[in-house]
Amino acid sequence: MCPPAHFRVTYSINPWMDPAKPVDIPLALAQWEDLRDRYLALGHTVEELEPRPGLPDMVFAANGATVVDGRVLGARFAHPERAAEAAVHAAWFREQGYADVLEPEHINEGEGDFAVTASWLLAGRGFRSSPLSHPEAQEFFGRPVIGLDLVDPRYYHLDTALCVLDDGTGGTDGSGGSDGEIMYYPGAFSAGSREVLRRLFPDALIASEEDAAALGLNAVSDGRHVVLPQAAVGLFEPLRARGYEPIGMDLGELLKGGGSVKCCTQELRG
Ligand code: ARG
Repeated sequence: MCPPAHFRVTYSINPWMDPAKPVDIPLALAQWEDLRDRYLALGHTVEELEPRPGLPDMVFAANGATVVDGRVLGARFAHPERAAEAAVHAAWFREQGYADVLEPEHINEGEGDFAVTASWLLAGRGFRSSPLSHPEAQEFFGRPVIGLDLVDPRYYHLDTALCVLDDGTGGTDGSGGSDGEIMYYPGAFSAGSREVLRRLFPDALIASEEDAAALGLNAVSDGRHVVLPQAAVGLFEPLRARGYEPIGMDLGELLKGGGSVKCCTQELRG
């Protein structure tokens, strides 16, 4: 995670961002600290990346890399405003002693567009990550990539429209499919990609338009607790019914940058 010390909305690269709308920085920091403290209270470890002036979107740490089995696929950003973040993430991993760090050839915005299930990588394309980043990730991780086409600009990253609840490595009640359980908003995807999702995850939790618009799918699950934007009220009961414990967070100031819980959280797997 990266504290929003330099968070601002000074440019607009997604429909949520309006530079004319003021951001309350102390409030953004307090909301971010609540999220970090929540992870700590749940028993997770949180590493903090030092924020850099001039990189106002660095708080959205999920975009900086994708880590699976301790292997790090770095990011390459679509917009010049964020380009310099990639090297900061890659340097952090090298300093921490990660041996396998690939600075990619093709544009990918980290976990913004890559979601990890037990055996696959679900990969978004259409707005940010290049379709060419999909074979690059498949080759690097040795996991099949399922490419998914995003069609609604409000859901410009996969993690704004889909969340892996249980990666299949240990579920709450075994109700998920063989590759785990997900929740998603079908309206964010092309017809063909919706069909792929139905085929792979017939029991998925389907989010409503309202809950998706509250960025309710921008959530982080440890397989038991699901930390999500509290405004996505319609997701709480269905999550409980599946055996998860939903935990609502208010990240309203960060929503002005087009991100919420998941965007602020990069998961270090392995
Ligand atoms: N303002 C940032 C951007 O448009 C928000 C990134 C949100 N991150 C995410 N993982 N969806 O790039």
